[in-house]
Amino acid sequence: MTSTLAIAGKPAGNVALSRMAALWLGITLIGQWVFAYFIAGFYGASTLQGNFEDWAKNKALIKGFLPGDTAGNWAFAAHMVLAAIVAFAGVLQLIPQIRARALALHRWNGRVFMLAVLAASIGGLYLTWVRGTSRNLISALAISGDAVLIIVFAVLAWRTARARNIAAHRRWALRTFVVASGVWFMRLGYFGWILINHAPVGITKNMDGAFDRFIAFGCYLVPLAVLELYLWAKASGSPRLRFSTSGALLASTLLMAIGTVGATLFLWMPLLAKV
Ligand code: HEM
Repeated sequence: MTSTLAIAGKPAGNVALSRMAALWLGITLIGQWVFAYFIAGFYGASTLQGNFEDWAKNKALIKGFLPGDTAGNWAFAAHMVLAAIVAFAGVLQLIPQIRARALALHRWNGRVFMLAVLAASIGGLYLTWVRGTSRNLISALAISGDAVLIIVFAVLAWRTARARNIAAHRRWALRTFVVASGVWFMRLGYFGWILINHAPVGITKNMDGAFDRFIAFGCYLVPLAVLELYLWAKASGSPRLRFSTSGALLASTLLMAIGTVGATLFLWMPLLAKV
């Protein structure tokens, strides 16, 4: 069956899967770099020059700058520097041409990315639980679950790379990237959802509405599920699974594109205009 469906020696569905993965990567690169541009543009100068009170221009922040809270303010400043590195460097790791032609860049950028996600996660846990930055307990638990997955996956990606187990390294590195992008998926999720519904359906100020609850966990668990489906389809000999996974990737990419447009127009551009 597989051989009759095979095209030019390639198992059926492989081409569709590769094309959809490439499209997903293209949209991810644009969206992550817009996020990195926003972080650098909005927080860059104020953070590096020590004008922390300028963070208050972002009214959506729960705490941001607090007079007298030196440790908390520095933790937030460090979080912004790390966030810019994560958003810029992570997606570079996924570009096949860089892995094939510039392995040294892949290795160094990979080390920087891994250290940045580990530090951002530990710092994020500090902001959440020690500084007490969260709208409610469920969202604090949800983001902490993301932090735990980032730390576990990053350690496994690092260990498999050191052991030169490239197949396993690739899987753990992809998982690390996806969960480390949870906070980015969350922003895309919110603004894509608002754009589709023309209203903040299921979203409350306290972030305890139905959509708030869904996106708090869904921002990393849904992309992780799609990734697992992709890895399974790639390894399987089933053309049907490959084609249906290609469809799921296309749908995800479309939603991500809508979310990127929404977050860019209604979140990041208005904030950048205040700088
Ligand atoms: C590793 C990838 C991460 C990136 C790229 C990132 C990025 C950001 C950005 C850009 C902000 C500022 C808010 C905004 O302007 O949109 C922020 C705030 C925050 N992050 Fe993260 N973050 C990451 C991981 C985490 C994790 C894992 C946690 C918790 C365990 C966390 C906890 C927080 C908290 C509590 C704030 C809010 C501070 C406030 O409102 O005062 N972050 N993060």
